[in-house]
This record gives sequence, C-alpha cells and structure tokens, in this order.
Amino acid sequence: MIYLMELNSNQMEKIIDLVHFHTGITISPSKKSMLQGRIRQRLKALELESYDDYIAYLQTDINEKQEFINIITTNETTFFRTEKVWKYFQEEFLINWKNSLPVKIWSAAASTGEEAYSIAMSCEEHKKIKSSFQYEIVGTDISTKVLKYAQDARYSGRNINNFKERHTKLFQTYFNEDDEFAEVVPELKKNTSFSSHNLFSIPKGNIAQFDIVFLRNVLIYFKQEDQKQVINNISRAMKPGAILILGESESLNGLSSEFEYVHPQTYKKK
Ligand SMILES: C[S@@+](CC[C@H](N)C(=O)[O-])C[C@H]1O[C@@H](n2cnc3c(N)ncnc32)[C@H](O)[C@@H]1O
Repeated sequence: MIYLMELNSNQMEKIIDLVHFHTGITISPSKKSMLQGRIRQRLKALELESYDDYIAYLQTDINEKQEFINIITTNETTFFRTEKVWKYFQEEFLINWKNSLPVKIWSAAASTGEEAYSIAMSCEEHKKIKSSFQYEIVGTDISTKVLKYAQDARYSGRNINNFKERHTKLFQTYFNEDDEFAEVVPELKKNTSFSSHNLFSIPKGNIAQFDIVFLRNVLIYFKQEDQKQVINNISRAMKPGAILILGESESLNGLSSEFEYVHPQTYKKK
C-alpha cells in the first residue's frame, strides 16, 4: 500500500523545496512523519501510486498548488491566544486611540479567524466606552481552507468550548449557538473581512495603511532571511507609529531597524 510507504531522502528534499517555494516555510527533515502524513492525504484523494507521481502532479497541475498549501500549513490558533497581548491591545492601544478615523487592523496570518474575531470583540467592547470608535479588520492567510472557516465564522469543538468556559460573557454577547455550532454575530462580521495573501508578496492596496498588525505565530516557520523579507513587506503596509504584535516565541531581534521595542512581542514602527 502506497499509503504506508516512506518518503525517501530524495523525495523529502524535493517536497521540502516545494514547501519553501510555495509558502516560504522551512521544514526540517526531522518533520518527516508529519510531512508524510499530510502528503498521503493528497495521494489518497488523487489516487496516485507514488510520491514521485505526486511531485510531478504538483509541478504540472495549476490547481494542486493551493491544495498543497492547504495541507502543508499548520493552522493552530485559539480565541484570545496569549492573554497579555490582549491586555495590551485593550488597555493600552484601544484606550489611547484618539483618532476619529477608523482604526485599521490586519490579522496577517489569520488562520480560521479566532484572532480576527478576538480583535473584533475587543473593539466592540471598547465601543461601549467610546461610542464614536470605529474599526476595520482585515484577516489574511495563505491557506484558502482556513479562510473559508474564518468567513463562515461557525465554530465547534475544543476551541470554542474553551473560549465559552473562560470568557462566558463575551461568548454570550458575540455568538449565537445552535445544537452544532456557535456562530459569530453579524455585528462582528460586518467589520471583518478575509482574503488570501502570501506574506512574501507585497500587500495589496495602499502602502502605509494599517494602524496595528497582528503577525503572530507565523515567523517561527520561516528562516531568518525570509523573516526579514516578511517584516519588510509588513512594514510597508504600516503607518509610521503603527504597532506590530508578534507571537509569544517571536521577536524582531536582528530582523529590522524600522521598529522600536515597546513591550514583549510589541513593536512600534519608527
Ligand atoms: C499557527 S497559525 C497562527 C494563527 C494566529 N495568527 C495565531 O497566532 O493564533 C499560522 C498561520 O500562518 C499561515 N501562513 C503560513 N505561511 C504563510 C505565508 N507565507 N503567508 C501567509 N500566511 C501564512 C498558515 O496558513 C497558518 O494559518
């Protein structure tokens, strides 16, 4: 059975190169079983005979590239991931936002949308203190599979159950629950849009448009020279003085001189 066959070192090398080419993600050869498990899903779906057949198919079929990206990316996320980031966002960033224009927010590796909707809930809560406050959230990701979940905004399982337990009041305010799913209320969806974007491309739209960017738990997948390119692209999309928030195990050390350190994981564009 092909589905039990091992990737040989030559096939591994080719797949690792293809992952890097299409996503910028650098995968260590030590992740062989993870890679193998994910590629096998595609072999099975396409009824292909060997990993070599799949590699050839990926290089010739125009639609397979996106399927490959969808299975190869790791999309783990939660609502209000890393409490201290939300404390900063709610109690410092939003409280000090004096501009009458809408605050423009980018969730730059949005996955299934939990981060973008955590931002939206924080903004709606802030509106209760300052009714004139307005916001726009753009969520982007390279995986179209997760973006579909984010757009549907219908959650079930461990993630939403944990959120419901820990933030019961927010859950009751911002989700409608049926037997199977908890769906984000229209007032949160209204200010939140999602689209496909590769962090290695120059962001679409105006340069210097965002007031705050959440770029969390994605730099860890890139090697340093690629991280520099991503930060350079992100920086172009940020207004001077805008805030960049990274993931818990990420920093800008050695990556860019365009930012100053504000808090752990938090930087200001000069
Ligand atoms: C682990 S999730 C992080 C989600 C969320 N930001 C968080 O911190 O919970 C990483 C996301 O980055 C996305 N990603 C990986 N490479 C990317 C790239 N080159 N461009 C855009 N998104 C990418 C993946 O598809 C995945 O959904």
